[in-house]
Amino acid sequence: MTSTATTHAAAAPEADHPHPAPVPAPVGSAQPAADPGDPAGRRVLTGDRPTGPLHLGHYFGTLRNRVGLQRQGAELFVVVADYQVITDRDIADRLAEHTENLVIDYLATGLDPDRATIFAHSAVPALNQLLLPFLSLVTVAELNRNPTVKDEIAHSRQSAVSGLMFTYPVHQAADILFCKADLVPVGQDQLPHLEVARTVARRFNERYGAGIFPQPRALLSSAPLLPGTDGTKMSKSRGNAIALAADADETARLVRAARTDAERRITYDPAGRPGVAALVLLAALCQDRTPEQVAEEIGDGGAAALKRTVTEAVNEHLRPIRARRAELATDRGHIRRVLRTGAERANTVADATLTEVRAAMGAVGSA
Ligand code: TRP
Repeated sequence: MTSTATTHAAAAPEADHPHPAPVPAPVGSAQPAADPGDPAGRRVLTGDRPTGPLHLGHYFGTLRNRVGLQRQGAELFVVVADYQVITDRDIADRLAEHTENLVIDYLATGLDPDRATIFAHSAVPALNQLLLPFLSLVTVAELNRNPTVKDEIAHSRQSAVSGLMFTYPVHQAADILFCKADLVPVGQDQLPHLEVARTVARRFNERYGAGIFPQPRALLSSAPLLPGTDGTKMSKSRGNAIALAADADETARLVRAARTDAERRITYDPAGRPGVAALVLLAALCQDRTPEQVAEEIGDGGAAALKRTVTEAVNEHLRPIRARRAELATDRGHIRRVLRTGAERANTVADATLTEVRAAMGAVGSA
């Protein structure tokens, strides 16, 4: 089916996003949270590992913000971090399929491929080559100290830690710096990596000539962290995540299986009643209300009424996104073209940056 190709390419109509997320303030240790400024004209880079379908945690945590930034005129670069998949596993399982599904999720939630550059790591050689000079700018002790890497190693399924695991934050710095991004929308867990990118940018400028790399700043989501249906971190591997791609019945099943308690009166108490609070927050985000309002309305209705409300709220909110997703999924050729065009644009930018870097270093044969 190709007759819908033109609608695929079109930006998602704004009417389908009745609850645009507020654009959060940027943070960074040397750059305290401040006015993000006008996003128009800013370059934003962000990305995801293609390991499985995106879920509501991703959606409320970052996808909505990206679309908000795009609407405000920022220039978006979105990396499908395929090389990063092999940091904590031996082989990248079903890589092409996961990559395409990620792009489908992006487009379905409103990223416009005519304005955003969506590309895979492995399709941009010059980006990857930046890793070499960048690695020379950080010490082994610094790599060893990275709290996010430490945490990932602690939860890794691998018996031995690879060199890539230790160095991937520097690779991620290349993701951010190849396009000289100003802003990086990330979750709290990614802040140490942003610090690595800032360090690499600063040291490169100090060593080889000022002004080549700007200092990227983090944009933390203002949405509260969305727990899964059991009240713990939402994650596919825990079976507590509602995927964007899930259908209405699957959503109902997941919500029905959610862990609640016997207390009839519904309250919003994340510390005391994590399972109930996760559901209340989910309904609140979908309905653009406060968790307290949702809890108040359900009152003495108990877990059954809460689950009914949540199922309806999620299915209602996701209906247009799911419809667009289903349509996009029928034309894989279009998705592959989006990735090809994105890679072309990213390659042009990465080649230019690498040329600058080699010239600054005085590499023989550079322009
Ligand atoms: N590490 C990020 C994650 O696991 C994905 C990612 C790769 C990324 N490169 C990036 C995020 C650059 C922000 C900027 O979610």
